[in-house]
Amino acid sequence: MPPPESERVLIFDFGAQYGQLIARRVREQRVFCQIVRHDLPAERVAELRPKGILLSGGPSSVYSPGAPHMDPKVFDLGIPVLGICYGMQLACFQLGGKVQPATRREFGRAHLHIDHADGLFAGVPQDTVVWMSHGDQVQAVNGDWQPLAATDTCPVAAVRHRARPIFGLQFHPEVAHTPQGGRILHNFLYDVCGCHGLWSMGSFVERSVADIRRRVGAARVICGLSGGVDSSVTAALLVKAIGPQVACIFVDNGLLREGEAEAVRHTFRDHFHADLHVVDARQRFLSALAGVHDPQQKRRIIGHVFIDVFKDEARHIENARFLAQGTLYPDVIESGGAPDGPAANIKTHHNVGGLPAELGFELIEPLRDLFKDEVRLLGKELGLPEETVWRHPFPGPGLAVRCLGPVSEDRLAVLRQADAILQEELRSSGWYRQTAQAFAVLLPVQSVGVMGDARTYENVIAIRAVQTDDFMTADWAHLPYELLASISTRIINSVPGVNRVVYDISSKPPATIEWE
Ligand code: XMP
Repeated sequence: MPPPESERVLIFDFGAQYGQLIARRVREQRVFCQIVRHDLPAERVAELRPKGILLSGGPSSVYSPGAPHMDPKVFDLGIPVLGICYGMQLACFQLGGKVQPATRREFGRAHLHIDHADGLFAGVPQDTVVWMSHGDQVQAVNGDWQPLAATDTCPVAAVRHRARPIFGLQFHPEVAHTPQGGRILHNFLYDVCGCHGLWSMGSFVERSVADIRRRVGAARVICGLSGGVDSSVTAALLVKAIGPQVACIFVDNGLLREGEAEAVRHTFRDHFHADLHVVDARQRFLSALAGVHDPQQKRRIIGHVFIDVFKDEARHIENARFLAQGTLYPDVIESGGAPDGPAANIKTHHNVGGLPAELGFELIEPLRDLFKDEVRLLGKELGLPEETVWRHPFPGPGLAVRCLGPVSEDRLAVLRQADAILQEELRSSGWYRQTAQAFAVLLPVQSVGVMGDARTYENVIAIRAVQTDDFMTADWAHLPYELLASISTRIINSVPGVNRVVYDISSKPPATIEWE
């Protein structure tokens, strides 16, 4: 069978809010795709031999100075093109259609009436709902183009070129508010581009395993395990590919949640029989953190100690030439790390646990082509436990940034117990999977309470639970009162030293997800 990449589809990025969503929708149709720069030269496009090209939306107007254009020679390659929103306006504009500058933005649901139900719209009801979000729109097209559908306010809501396989949609097929969007993308990918749907997790595993074996040869690979989804999936994939040649290093920094070190041990040592090195560095971290209040200072210290501990352990692993990292596709795109990818839009996130290049290893990043939800699927395919596959993100500095004020063993113990109760309650109520991240925070204040007949003056625990897709913005989760009540009662009754629990009802922005 030909490799899935032989069915590559390119997504030209014009600064779309929904660029990555388009890519995910294409992958869901089992077609491999890559987001590329909008001005990728036609010669390079030809080399990549894509089966089709999607032009994303974008915030610009095709007329404004500096608006992103594409190499017009791309249209001459004979490769099918589907322009979405700005992408459609640009295709029409660059090929002689007429685009009308906006008098006002159109945003929201619209009723689409389809005049030509074949091709792109095969199987789509003649009247359907679509999602619009645009300023300019194509007002009229010349004889080279055939309008396919319209809405009340948009006379050319879909269009095709009469002589070339070029299509345009003014609406967004990739968003959930366009219920027939999947069908339309499927028609484009399968009927117009002739894809067969070769991209699947099974085929991805097969190819990755073969690639890793070929690249690594007889050398050893070091893989830093944090217990999170990305590093766990990376490690599991490597173990499948090269078994004992991979050495997994798990640093117990004393800032983990309850049961975490044991869970990693159980999965990787007992289940996968991996060469797992658990480094007990709890004292090293806690001594370095003693008396430190400032959050950024905490992060810096943890970052430095982590690198030292990791280096010490890595030194003992003979013949190690490679270092594996769980970099995902969104990180690659956002850091401008993809060779043909869109220009860098550097992610500001400090990643504690990141290792400096001067360690001298060659990098292996087997998840570079995957989105988060695909990584979870891959984890399932590789046999990782559900709890790992669906685990909420946990920051590199761990409980240190949730233990506000100074970090000590006693304070961490209080926080850890409260957090364990929260996690248990979320899981048993079914809310764990409905929240993106949830945790307990130990506040640096004490509050007055009464227990029995005695006055207490003890710790306050804040509960934070959020819902988000991208962690850049987040809403606080509307957990049921009964669940909050049960969390609070259990924590106050069973965690010594806590007499008050509060719930954080701030959204991001302006608050962040973590408190520090
Ligand atoms: P904020 O608090 O910035 O968090 O809204 C967004 C996401 O990033 C995680 N986070 C971190 N992850 N090292 C990490 O590896 C850090 O220092 C760090 N700080 C925040 C946070 O848990 C959330 O998922």
